[in-house]
Parts: sequence; C-alpha cells; structure tokens
Amino acid sequence: MALSAAKCPSSSAARLSLGHPSLRSSTLLRPFPNSSALARRVPSRSFKNWNLNVVCKQEAGAVPASSSAEEAPSKNVENGGLFGLSSEEYGNAIGLDASERESTVSITVVGASGDLAKKKIFPALFALYYEDCLPKHFTIFGYARSKMTDAELRTMVSKTLTCRIDKRENCSEKMEQFLNRCFYHSGQYDSEQNFAELDKKLKEHEGGRLPNRLFYLSIPPNIFIDVVKSASQSSSSKDGWTRVIVEKPFGRDSQSSAALTRGLKQYLEEDQIFRIDHYLGKELVENLSILRFSNLVFEPLWSRQYIRNVQLIFSEDFGTEGRGGYFDNYGIIRDIMQNHLLQILALFAMETPVSMDAEDIRNEKVKVLRSMKPLQLEDVVIGQYKSHTKGGVTYPGYTDDKTVPKGSLTPTFAAAALFIDNARWDGVPFLMKAGKALHTRRTEIRVQFRHVPGNLYKRSFGTDLDRATNELVIRVQPNEAIYLKINNKIPGLGMRLDRSNLNLLYASRYSKEIPDAYERLLLDAIEGERRLFIRSDELDAAWELFTPLLRELEEKKIAPELYPYGSRGPVGAHYLAANYNVRWGDLSASETT
Ligand code: NDP
Ligand code: BG6
Repeated sequence: MALSAAKCPSSSAARLSLGHPSLRSSTLLRPFPNSSALARRVPSRSFKNWNLNVVCKQEAGAVPASSSAEEAPSKNVENGGLFGLSSEEYGNAIGLDASERESTVSITVVGASGDLAKKKIFPALFALYYEDCLPKHFTIFGYARSKMTDAELRTMVSKTLTCRIDKRENCSEKMEQFLNRCFYHSGQYDSEQNFAELDKKLKEHEGGRLPNRLFYLSIPPNIFIDVVKSASQSSSSKDGWTRVIVEKPFGRDSQSSAALTRGLKQYLEEDQIFRIDHYLGKELVENLSILRFSNLVFEPLWSRQYIRNVQLIFSEDFGTEGRGGYFDNYGIIRDIMQNHLLQILALFAMETPVSMDAEDIRNEKVKVLRSMKPLQLEDVVIGQYKSHTKGGVTYPGYTDDKTVPKGSLTPTFAAAALFIDNARWDGVPFLMKAGKALHTRRTEIRVQFRHVPGNLYKRSFGTDLDRATNELVIRVQPNEAIYLKINNKIPGLGMRLDRSNLNLLYASRYSKEIPDAYERLLLDAIEGERRLFIRSDELDAAWELFTPLLRELEEKKIAPELYPYGSRGPVGAHYLAANYNVRWGDLSASETT
C-alpha cells in the first residue's frame, strides 16, 4: 500500500506546498541582475502560478494537458490581440496583477544538437510531458549553432523519444503533441543579438503570460559563461523567474571550479544556478534517505559502532568510445569519483537533517565533505584499460582511441580509501571504485557490518568470519534492488547455515518503470526545488578533497596499472582494500555471476 499519494510520480510536486519555507525563499530569487527589481516585486507569485498549473495525470481530477494548438502563438494573438506586449503590460491591459496571471515555462536547451540533449534531455522532457508533469503552458526551444529548422529539430528529437513499457497508450499521439511544442533557434553562444532573437520568439510563445525561463546548458564548459552572459543580457525573464541548469564538469580543480563559479555569479544569483549531478536523481540514491530515516532498523546501525566499511562501486562494461577527447582532459576521478560517488557518500553519511528541505540537507552534506580526511596518494590506485581479445573479438585499449594522445596517463579506473573524521564515522573506510571497460556495468553501495560478538554459530563459517557478517547492498543500477545478506539455517534436520538475501528487487515489487534521473532533476529545476542540485560550497569542498591528490598524480606522472578491457580491473585495488581488512563485495563468489 502506498504511504502517500504521489501526484507526478517522479516529481517533488507531492512534497511541495505553497507555504513551504524553502519555496518561499526560492521565489525571492533574482532572475538575472537586470531584471531583479521586477522579480522582487512578485514574491512567491511565479511559483504560485506554476504550482497551480502543474497537475500530473495520476492525480485525482487531473487537468488534462493542453493541446499543442492551445500553445500556438497565432492563437495567443487571436485571443486578445495583445501579442507584442510585455507580459506585465499584457497583465495590466487585461486588468490582472502578476499574482492572478497564468504563468508559462520556456525551456531552452542550449547545445540542442549535441549528444546529451538527444540522448537524455529531450527524452526526459517528453517523459514528463507524457506523465502530465509539465505545466499547462510550456514551450521547448533548442538552441545551438547548427542550422536547423523546427521540423528538422523535431525529426532529430523524435528518433530518441520512447514511451515507457507501461505507458504505450496514445504514445505516438502524445509524441506528436510534444514535438509540436518544440522549436529551434540557431545562434552563436556569445551573441547577445542571437539571444535577443530567441527572446523575441520566446515572447511570442509566452503570449503575455507570466514568463518563467529555464536554460539547460548542454554544452562544453568553456562556453558556459558566454552563454550565461548573452542570455542574461538578452533573454532573461523580465518578471518571472530565470534558472540555469549547468552540466558537469564544474571545473577541473579547486581553482578552475572557483573561477567558473565566479564567472556564473557575475550574471546569476547562486539560487538561480542548478548544478546537475544526475546520480542524485537516480531512484535508489533518492531512496537512501527514506531507507535510513524512515526505518527504525537501519538508522541505529548507521555508524562506526556497527558498520565495518562502506563501498561505493561504479563500473561500466564499455570504454570511453566517442568521448575520448573529453575524457582525456578529466579522467575517471574527475568524471565519476569527485562528483557522482562523493555525492552519494555525503548523502549516505550525513547526520539527520533538521528537515528534508534543500538547505537543511545540503548543510548536512557539506559538513560531511568538510570533515573528510585529506586523501593520501598511498590510499589511491589508478588503472587504464588496454586492448584485449576475447572470443575472436579485439576490444581497443584506451590509447587506441584516435582522440586520445599516445602515451596518455589518464586513469580510466581508480580505487580510493576515504575517511570521515567525525564522531559517527571515525576509522570507517569508505572505499570507492570506479572504472570503464570492466567486466560488468553496475553501480552499487555496499555496507559491510561488523562481526556478531561472541557468535554462537561461528564454527559454521570455518575460519572466515567475514563470511558471516551482514551486508546491505543498494544496487543503483541496473536491476535496481536493495538486499540484505543474512545468515540462515538451511531447512532440514541438521544444523547447517547459509547466506541468504532478504531481497527487494524493484522489477518484482513494482510494475512501474523507473524514471530516468534527468526527468526528476528537470522537474525539480522547473519547480525550484534545489535539494538534488549541488550548492557552490559543496562543490568547493568536493574539489578541496580531490585537488591535491590530482595535482600529485599529475605532477609525479604516476603511471596507471594496465588492465585488460573487460576484466575486473587492476589487482592493486585488492591490495588497497586488504590494507584496511576489506574485501570488495562485488567480487565475492556469490556476486560475480
Ligand atoms: P557535445 O560535445 O555533443 O556538445 C553539445 C553541443 O555543443 C554540440 O552539438 C555543438 O553544437 C556545441 N559544441 C560542441 N563543441 C563546441 C565547441 N568547442 N565550441 C562551441 N560549441 C560547441 O556535448 P554533449 O552533448 O555530450 O554534452 C553536453 C555537456 O554535458 C558537456 O558539458 C558534457 O561534459 C556534459 N555531459 C555529457 C554527458 C553525455 O553523456 N554526453 C554526460 C554527462 C555530462 P553546435 O555545433 O550546433 O553549436
Ligand atoms: C557521466 C560520465 O557523468 O556519467 C560518463 O561523464 C558516464 O562517463 C555517465 O558514462 C554514467 O551515467 P549513467 O547514468 O549511464 O550511469
């Protein structure tokens, strides 16, 4: 039985209310500096309007999504002949103040011709549309330098849209409606004039409603500031909110990250910046806090007293194919550990927040990050995959990629032992492992508990008491699951024990398909919910932890240990774990099948 009725299934809509303190503050944000005064004159209204407009399909008495025709600019012109007025003028003309006007959200995907936009952003927006999670009035614009017509954008986008397995009904009809609300504008990233043209088109579609604007920067980081500058001058919302989603990487180290933050803050307030770490939008990462804080059986065990070690494991069974150029400048520590795994660690290890409000959670996460012991070189192992032939197929090595410089020392694998210097976690190793071109694709959190003191059944486990300890596994992907390894008596007249799993396999328990992380995060950004986005002090703390190590690895030109494509990674990772009396849980006999 569901504990509470969700509105939009992947959304935070259900947990939001108009009186919510974090939301009240979010509505005070400045769009871009040039429109701040207007924004401050409409405190809490843009959000209020938005909240009244978003109603998901699942909710009783749901408002049906508007048809594409309803959104067409021509209709807005017909509606009142008010096309061309600013939304404020429009409101005044029809005798409404801002609080009474309907709002609209325009989502501009900057870098719309790119890989991420096609693969993740447009499909996530469509999924939200299908679920009726987007507001009644919305428009999507693609923006990039490539020349494309609206029709060409729609054809490109349509190739990657899919309906969920459990949502086939009216799929093609819904796709068509969605595509009709997608438009394209070609422009340079540093051209205020091109963004002013975009602004004009956005206004046409906004049709005098209170305009809220979301920009998704799906572009290489070296042009983030150009875009933010041009957009802020020429296409920010004048009287609604303006928010900007920024994709990683957020710099390469403390210095470049601080420079990026400074650059963004020339044009944006911190609460307009939504730094995305899509791992925070994954269902099982989102579930971590629920598991821990709403089940009496876990929270009392969540400390050094009962937990022996925690493992955060990311592995992919493919290499950097196609992204070698990007990857070589970053490496696996920056690509996965400093953000995805460290964010999971902070969420896992934080103290109980005062509430589930964004700032309360982010305050606790940042305390964890700031309590971490500096990373030592001897606590890190790095590797790089090499070519391997298996079953007659030759898999390329990392440096075989033409976009990767010969002799590159960039790690494609890393393992590290980290420690949190606080009362809860003192001495508990948090082991991280991340690698590309390994034998399997898997992301999981493993919590290995201590031995049972004076275990009555220890003889049943021979000399290897580790085999008898409980282990909680949160498998983030694939085949999402949470299972707890326990000791159990094998049924029969004898007294033999085995290890069994109390298993919550999502595919068996829930018939619904799990939403992609980008869906949740996009919806949160539209709703102004910041909980799953990275605050600048979190980012600083994360870089402070990894920057000295990265510098040392690079200055000393430490050579990565080579491992064959498709293998279990460098042997060094086992020695590292063994130094702390730990065995990697994913490599135990029961887990490798
Ligand atoms: P792309 O390299 O595909 O770039 C996106 C678009 O930006 C391109 O279509 C191109 O559009 C424009 N562009 C590319 N290079 C340049 C350049 N040097 N100068 C100006 N414009 C350029 O990136 P992705 O779509 O793969 O990723 C977008 C962002 O998301 C990046 O920051 C990336 O690191 C991050 N990211 C990507 C992931 C992925 O899976 N792809 C995963 C996680 C993060 P046009 O030429 O039409 O202007
Ligand atoms: C991205 C990394 O952030 O996450 C990629 O840049 C990686 O290298 C990807 O492949 C993994 O994301 P997911 O959601 O497919 O596990």
